[in-house]
Amino acid sequence: MPSYNLNINNKTYKADVDADTPLLWVLRDILDLTGTKFGCGVGSCGACTILFNGKSVRSCQLQVQAVGEAKITTIEGLSEDGSHPVQKAWEKAGVPQCGYCQSGQIMTVAGLLNTNKHPTEEQISTAMAGNLCRCGTYHRIKEAILEAIAK
Ligand code: FES
Ligand code: FES
Repeated sequence: MPSYNLNINNKTYKADVDADTPLLWVLRDILDLTGTKFGCGVGSCGACTILFNGKSVRSCQLQVQAVGEAKITTIEGLSEDGSHPVQKAWEKAGVPQCGYCQSGQIMTVAGLLNTNKHPTEEQISTAMAGNLCRCGTYHRIKEAILEAIAK
C-alpha cells in the first residue's frame, strides 16, 4: 500500500492508503480531522469542502494520489481560535442550526475571499450554489458573507 506525506494545516501527516482513496476518507477516518463532513460523497453537497492551495475543493472528489505537495487547509486549520474573519462573521450572524454543513460553507467562503476580496452578490451566489443546507440557513449565511466582506 502506498504511503503519502500530506501537508495539512501546516503540519505533515502520513497516510498509508490506496492511491484512489478520496482525501475526505483520509482526513476523517485516518487522521481524525472530523471537522470536514461527509454529506453525499459524490460532489453534490459541499459538506466536505476544504482548501487546496487556498482554493475550495470537494475533498470527496479528490484522490489522495492527486494531492502531492499541495497545501491542504481544513476547518481545524483555518484559524487557531476561530478568529478567521469568516468565522467571526458566522458567529456574529449566528448562522448554524444543526451545524452539519457549516464547515463546508465556511471553507467555500474562505476560498472565495482568497481569490476575490470583494465579490459581487452574483459571484457569491455562484460560489455558494453547490453548498447545501438542509436546515435552510441560507439567509444568515448570506448575511455573514456580506459581513466578512465588509471587514
Ligand atoms: S460529501 Fe463531498 S460534496 Fe457532498
Ligand atoms: S445548519 Fe443544518 S444542514 Fe446546514
